Amino acid sequence: MAVTISIGSGKGGTGKTTLLCNLALLLAKKGKKVCLVDLDIGGADTHLLFGLFEPKYSLTDFLNKKFDSLSEVAHTFYSFHGLQIIPGTGSTLQTANMSYQEKQRLLRAISALDVDVVLLDVGAGTSYHTLDFFMYSDIQICVTMPEPTSIMDLFGFLQLATIRKVLSSFLSSSEVGKILKKNSFPTLKDVFDLAEQTQEGAKEKAQQALLFFHPLLVINRDVDNARLNKVKLKQLVAKYLGIDIPLLGNIPEDPAIKDALRAYMPVCELSSKAPSAQAMGVIADKTEKLIELFNKKSGNSTQ
Ligand SMILES: Nc1ncnc2c1ncn2[C@@H]1O[C@H](COP(=O)(O)OP(=O)(O)OP(=O)(O)O)[C@@H](O)[C@H]1O
Ligand SMILES: [Mg+2]
Repeated sequence: MAVTISIGSGKGGTGKTTLLCNLALLLAKKGKKVCLVDLDIGGADTHLLFGLFEPKYSLTDFLNKKFDSLSEVAHTFYSFHGLQIIPGTGSTLQTANMSYQEKQRLLRAISALDVDVVLLDVGAGTSYHTLDFFMYSDIQICVTMPEPTSIMDLFGFLQLATIRKVLSSFLSSSEVGKILKKNSFPTLKDVFDLAEQTQEGAKEKAQQALLFFHPLLVINRDVDNARLNKVKLKQLVAKYLGIDIPLLGNIPEDPAIKDALRAYMPVCELSSKAPSAQAMGVIADKTEKLIELFNKKSGNSTQ
């Protein structure tokens, strides 16, 4: 079964798509069978970064039930190491208000993809779809820029993602589930407190839902003085969310990224020696190791 990796951030424009496209390409170059799924409903643009302007099919054709499997709407880039992508869909009322059943059908189709790695671009923001697609994955990457506003947006995103994860860990038919469903929570602590008030021991169960949630942090457009903000973010999530966010990498501000965008090619392919490409190379090496570790732990044998 494929290992799924999702990428998210609170704020838009932090560099998620840039990183994901390059990561997909680098993993494909390493010999992995990779499929990139563009779930950024309304802001789908991954295909453009590879110079594909008019995809024959897109996620819309799957959502409209024109096809039963996602592989039928995938586009293979033979010139980019056989990388596959599922081009995204524009925002329609149908996609923006995807029902529970439709979302489950999509997630089942993602897990049925016959590849080694699936990368999900979930887009920006904190809609339920975005949070659910982000949390669905085996490995999560979150991207922020070093400015305090971007850091705080990411903290807000992670707080809502953890709340959503904890809420969905209680069956809606259970006593705690029913009570939690009726309320809205500004912080994770409020969820824990109400769960415990409703049923003794529920807080511990809620905390367990986050046991394996260790989103990996990438600081993009990094500058030298960003260390303090990084430390602050790690402290905030440890204190208020009880989770650790290990650093996956730093990508410097680099004009080569814009040049690559204009050439409709990932920077790692166009200018592999550029500082941003080198930094993403390090991120890809680390990610490859994490994928292998995940496969070993879960008894997957995709190699
Ligand atoms: N390290 C960098 N140096 C210079 N420019 C960058 C860097 N990273 C990203 N950019 C530029 O920033 C812009 C936003 O990047 P990108 O589209 O990858 O962000 P995003 O998080 O996917 O945005 P959205 O939330 O809208 O989907 C793009 O124009 C991209 O070329
Ligand atoms: Mg994007």
